[in-house]
Amino acid sequence: MTRVLVLYYSSYGHVRALAQAEAEGARSVPGIHVDLRRVPETVPEAVRRRAGFAADDTPVAAPADLEAYDAIIFGTPTLFGMMAGQMKTFLDQAGGLWARNALVGKVAAVFASTGSQHGGHEATLLSTQIPLQHFGMLIAGMPYSFAGQTTAEGIVGGAPYGAGTIAGADGARAPTETDLAGARFHGAHVARIAARLAGAVLAEEAA
Ligand SMILES: Cc1cc2nc3c(=O)[nH]c(=O)nc-3n(C[C@H](O)[C@H](O)[C@H](O)COP(=O)(O)O)c2cc1C
Repeated sequence: MTRVLVLYYSSYGHVRALAQAEAEGARSVPGIHVDLRRVPETVPEAVRRRAGFAADDTPVAAPADLEAYDAIIFGTPTLFGMMAGQMKTFLDQAGGLWARNALVGKVAAVFASTGSQHGGHEATLLSTQIPLQHFGMLIAGMPYSFAGQTTAEGIVGGAPYGAGTIAGADGARAPTETDLAGARFHGAHVARIAARLAGAVLAEEAA
């Protein structure tokens, strides 16, 4: 089985909804095992409650878990134009994996939720890819074969750099059907690439 991890941080549920759609898309590809995990919260419980963060019973991952996967799809809200600190803190604890080249050659992809259309959506997708390239991961974007991203009708999340949604300034906007379709497409796209690479490695080992 090719193993895909969908790993996310979400305060208010938008990224979580996209993560579930990414996992659904990856699971639609035959021969793929998919796990859905979130990174640990770093905000104190009292602050979480005061800020109205959503409860989330998704199991939490540890950095050491990443090594077990062929592909990892990372999801984050845009906070001040870039990935959430919770995700960065998680990645900053993966130094041991980096030192052993443990993630080199694995597939990585990014999806994001952003408050406003031009508030850092693409910047988040792109800048989140920087540490993943330091790990030696191969970045899969969201190709234009997902035609939904090119619509000029209404507000649409995502870009060639990854899937996404626009939550609205007050977070009241739920991911649209197009955004969820984009996330499902993206999850399946990453899973297919990972399966092809895993198959190529097996063929090479057998030769
Ligand atoms: C501290 C903080 C910083 C934020 N910074 C931005 C920002 O720079 N640009 C933007 O468009 N939205 C920003 N937002 C809105 C979030 O992107 C939005 O709430 C998020 O996409 C919701 O995702 P979630 O429901 O998964 O937590 C910010 C929100 C918070 C709480």
